[in-house]
Amino acid sequence: MSSTRPRINVVGTGYLGATHAAAMAEMGFEVIGVDSDPAKVAALSRGEVPFFEPGLPELLRRHVESGRLRFTTDLAEATALSDVHFICVGTPQQVASFAANLSYVEEATAGVARNLTHDGIIVGKSTVPVGTGERLRSLIAGLVPDGVDAELVWNPEFLREGKAVEDTLRPDRIVVGGTSDRSEAVLRAVYAAPLATGTPMIVCDLPTAELVKVSANAFLATKISFINAIAEVCEAAGANVSVLADALGHDARIGRQFLNAGLGFGGGCLPKDIRALMYRASELGAFSASSLLQQVDEINMGQRQRIIDMTLDACGGSVLNRRIGVLGAAFKPDTDDVRDSPALNVAAALHLRGAQVVVYDPEASETARRMYPTLSYASELDDAVAGSDALLVLTEWPEFVDADPARLAAIAGVPSLIDGRNCLDPAIWAEAGWQVRSLGRPT
Ligand code: UGA
Repeated sequence: MSSTRPRINVVGTGYLGATHAAAMAEMGFEVIGVDSDPAKVAALSRGEVPFFEPGLPELLRRHVESGRLRFTTDLAEATALSDVHFICVGTPQQVASFAANLSYVEEATAGVARNLTHDGIIVGKSTVPVGTGERLRSLIAGLVPDGVDAELVWNPEFLREGKAVEDTLRPDRIVVGGTSDRSEAVLRAVYAAPLATGTPMIVCDLPTAELVKVSANAFLATKISFINAIAEVCEAAGANVSVLADALGHDARIGRQFLNAGLGFGGGCLPKDIRALMYRASELGAFSASSLLQQVDEINMGQRQRIIDMTLDACGGSVLNRRIGVLGAAFKPDTDDVRDSPALNVAAALHLRGAQVVVYDPEASETARRMYPTLSYASELDDAVAGSDALLVLTEWPEFVDADPARLAAIAGVPSLIDGRNCLDPAIWAEAGWQVRSLGRPT
C-alpha cells in the first residue's frame, strides 16, 4: 500500500459518508462510496445529494464529473480497489432499549474484512459505544483472507449537519485511536490537508477515541439542558435567560455556544448518543455518568411538554379544533433532517389533542410529511400563519427570524406567539400586536 496516496473506500453514504467521500475527493484522493441502497447510489452517481446539506451538491458534482469520486452498491469491488476503508454507517437507537444498534457497523466491517484482496486499514468513523472497536478486531481476525493484513482503528467524526462540508474539510481536531506506526502514517497522509493548516491530531488508544466522540455530544447536550434548567429558574424569578446566557458566554471557560434555551435538542445524534452512553456507562458500572445523562435527557424531553402546556394555556386550556401554525419541522435550521425533531414532536402532540396543526418549513416539509403524514403542511409561511389561534416558532430558520411581525399579525386569527427557540425579539413582536410567550424570558 502506498502511504502517500492511498485509495479510499467509504462504506455508508448518509450525511456522514457522502460528505466524507466528497471531502476526500476534494483533498485529491480516488474515492469509491458504497451503499446498499441502489436509489441512493444512483442519485449520488448523478451528482445529486438525496438530502439537504448546504455546499455538498456542488462539491459532489465537481468530483463525480472529474471521475475522482464514484459510487457503487458492490462492496467487494470497492474493497478490492481500495487501501483505506472508512466505516460510515449509522448506529441508531435500538427499538426496545437505549443501546445503540451496531448491526450495520458489524455488517459493513465484516463485509470489508471478507473482501480484502490486499493489506488494508479499516477506519471506524461511526459513533459507537466504547468497547466496540475491540470486538470488531476479533470479528475481523476471523474473516480476513490468509496472507492479508487488516488493521482496525477509530477516527470519530464531529461534523454538524448544515455545516458538514466546512466541518469535514476544516475540522477543529482529528482524533485517531488504536493506530500502529504504519496506520498512523497512512492517516497522516489522508489528512495531510487539514494537518498542514494546523488542525491538531490526537493519537490515542481505541477506547479513548470511541469515548471522545460520545463525550463531546454528551457535553453539548448537558450544556443545553443546563441552560434550559436555568431558564426555568429565570421564568420563576422574572429573569431573562437570553441576557444571562450572553453574560455567561463572555467567560472563556464557559463560552456562549450551546447556551440557547428553548425547545431543546433533537436530531439523529445528540438524543441517541446520550442514551447509548447512559446505557453503556450503566453496563460498565459507571453510575455517575448514567444518572447525569438521565437528567440531561429528562430535562430535554420536558422542554417539549412545556411548549405543549404553554400552547394549551395560550388557547384557554384546550386546543380542540383550534388552528395552530407551526413554523419549523427540521430539528434545527439548515437541514431537512426531522429525526427526533422536537418541533414535529410538539406538532404531533397538539394534533393528537384535536388541534388543526399546519406546519411550514422552508426545507423539511417533504421529509416531515413522510414521517408524520397526518399533519397538514403549508407551502408558504403565510399559509401556516393565516387564521391561526396560536403561532409556534419551533425551528429558528432565518425566514422566521426575519419575518415582519406586523404583516403576520394582520393575517393571524389571534396574534398569539410562542417562541420555542427564543429567536425573536419579544419587544418588537409585542409592539406589532402579538402576545408573546417564551421559555425563560419575561413577557
Ligand atoms: C451534533 C454535534 O454538534 C456534532 O459535533 C456531531 O458530530 C454530530 O452531532 C454527530 O454526532 O454526528 P448535529 O446533530 O448536526 O451535531 O446538531 P447540533 O448543531 O449539535 O444541534 C443539536 C440540537 O441541539 C438541535 O436540535 C439544536 O436545535 C439544539 N440546540 C443547539 C439547542 O437547543 N440549543 C443550543 O444552544 C444549541
